[in-house]
Amino acid sequence: MQIGTITLDNPLIMAPLAGISNLPFRLSAKKEGCALVCSEMISSNGLVYKSEKTLRMLESAPEEKPLSIQIFGTDPSMMAEAATIAEASGADILDINFGCSVKKVIKTGAGVALMKTPRKAAAILTAVRQSIKIPLTVKIRTGWEKSGTQAVQTAKIAESCGADAIAVHPRTATQGFGGQADWTIISTVKKATAIPIIGNGDIVTPEDAVRMRKMTGCDGVMIGRAAIGNPWIFSQCLAGLRGENILPVYLDQRFEVMKSYVRTSVEYIGERPACRMLRSRLGWFVKGLRYSSKFRESIKHISSEKETLQLIDAYKDFLQFNFLF
Ligand SMILES: Cc1cc2nc3c(=O)[nH]c(=O)nc-3n(C[C@H](O)[C@H](O)[C@H](O)COP(=O)(O)O)c2cc1C
Repeated sequence: MQIGTITLDNPLIMAPLAGISNLPFRLSAKKEGCALVCSEMISSNGLVYKSEKTLRMLESAPEEKPLSIQIFGTDPSMMAEAATIAEASGADILDINFGCSVKKVIKTGAGVALMKTPRKAAAILTAVRQSIKIPLTVKIRTGWEKSGTQAVQTAKIAESCGADAIAVHPRTATQGFGGQADWTIISTVKKATAIPIIGNGDIVTPEDAVRMRKMTGCDGVMIGRAAIGNPWIFSQCLAGLRGENILPVYLDQRFEVMKSYVRTSVEYIGERPACRMLRSRLGWFVKGLRYSSKFRESIKHISSEKETLQLIDAYKDFLQFNFLF
C-alpha cells in the first residue's frame, strides 16, 4: 500500500488511541507486523505553545518507522505550524483528526465538528498541505447523520486539498463507540474518491479484516481497541489477509511480549513513570487467563523493572506448573 511517498509493507495500520498509543505500545504493534503506527491525537495548540508534556508525545524510535503523527485543532495557521513541528520531529506522515467526538474537543470546533464546517476543514487542510512535504492523511467518521453524505463530502474536500489517504471510522458523531460500525460507508467513500481509503471499526478477529477488505474494497485496514493488550492481532490479520494459517498465541510468546513491553517502557519513559503506567496496562495482556485477577493484584504497587519482570515470570511459572503439566 502506498501513502504518498511512503510505501507500507502491508495494509495493516494501528489506530490512534488517546492515552494508549504511546511509543512502547506502538513498538509492540510494530514487532507483530503492523505496517504503520500512529501517535495518539496531539493538540496543535500544545505543540505551538511548546507545552513540555505535548512535545514529549512526539518522541519516536527508529524501529517503529514509518510513524504517523496525528494532530487536532481548529485554527488553520496553528494547525499548519503544529504540522511543521511534527514533521521536524521526524514524522513520516501527518494525520489530521476529523473524527474525535469527545465533547471537550467538539466544543472548540475541532475533531468531528469539522465535518459540519467544510470551509474551515478545507482551510485547515490547505494550510497544512502547504506547510509540510510529508504525506498528509485525514481520519474521519460517518459525520453527524448516518447517511454518510458528510463522509463523502469531507473525503472529497480532503482529496482536493491534497490529502494522500483517508481513514474512515464509520460511526456517527453522536454514536461515540457504541453500536456497530457501518462498513457500507467505507465502500461509498472508496467509490467516491481516487486516493487510498483505510477502513476502520470493529475489527476484532483476523476474519474481520479479510471481510472488511472484501466487502468495502478498502486499501488499508486500521485496528484500534482489538490491539490493546493483543498486539498479535496484527500478525494474525496479516496471515489471514495472505491466506495463511492463523496461529494461536502461545503462553511463552504472550509472556515474552509482556516482558519486552516492560523493557521498552522503562527504556523510553523511565523506570518510575513506566512502573506507574504498567500497574494498569500489564493487566491488558492477561485478559482471559486463569487467576489473572490475582496477577493484576500483584502488580498494583510495582516500582522497579526487576520486580515487574519477576512477577511476570512467577505468574507464567504458576500457570505452566498448575495447568499445562
Ligand atoms: C480509548 C480510545 C482512544 C481513542 N483516541 C483516538 C485518537 O486519539 N484519535 C483518533 O483519531 N481516534 C481515536 N480513537 C478512535 C480509534 O482510533 C478508532 O477509530 C475506533 O476505536 C474504532 O476502531 P476499533 O473498532 O478498531 O477500535 C480512540 C478510541 C478509543 C477507544
